[in-house]
Amino acid sequence: MSQTQVRSGRSARDSSLAYADNVRPAARYPEVAEVIDRYRGHEGCLIQILHAAQGIYGCLPLDLQMFIAESLDLPLSEVAGVVSFYSFFSVNPRGQHTIRVCLGTACYVRGGKKIVDHLRESLGIDVGETTEDGKFTFEIARCIGACGLAPAVMIDDTVYKQVSAAKIDAILAKY
Ligand code: FES
Repeated sequence: MSQTQVRSGRSARDSSLAYADNVRPAARYPEVAEVIDRYRGHEGCLIQILHAAQGIYGCLPLDLQMFIAESLDLPLSEVAGVVSFYSFFSVNPRGQHTIRVCLGTACYVRGGKKIVDHLRESLGIDVGETTEDGKFTFEIARCIGACGLAPAVMIDDTVYKQVSAAKIDAILAKY
């Protein structure tokens, strides 16, 4: 076999492996494969699996959704539909901390919108995005149960009440 044939043989095999790995990403998601084996056949297992997968990888990119759909023998549209329906699932990598500005009625009328506008500018991102340094994901909430002391902002599990645009900078500096 000539040198050229060897080279072209290798390259064809390498590209077919790369393609196969793209289509069947099981090798990249061994922990999720284990979770799927554990929950397969249980009622409501799709949500449990998605939840565990997001816990492991931080988000649910399309590639991972494809793997889950294929492993459970479900159409991708069903998996993608569940991911987009529940706000706690995310297809994009999340930041280290999640900021949720409440825009429920009480918070909206008491300045929630100003906090959103201020954060857009100071973080340099829009709602639903993550800062470039991966520190903050910026989201909107609809009432977080602190209406009496609106406007409220939640960072991870901590609720901050009577927040203003000026106060939010000092709060974020602690993170
Ligand atoms: S409306 Fe914001 S906490 Fe209820």
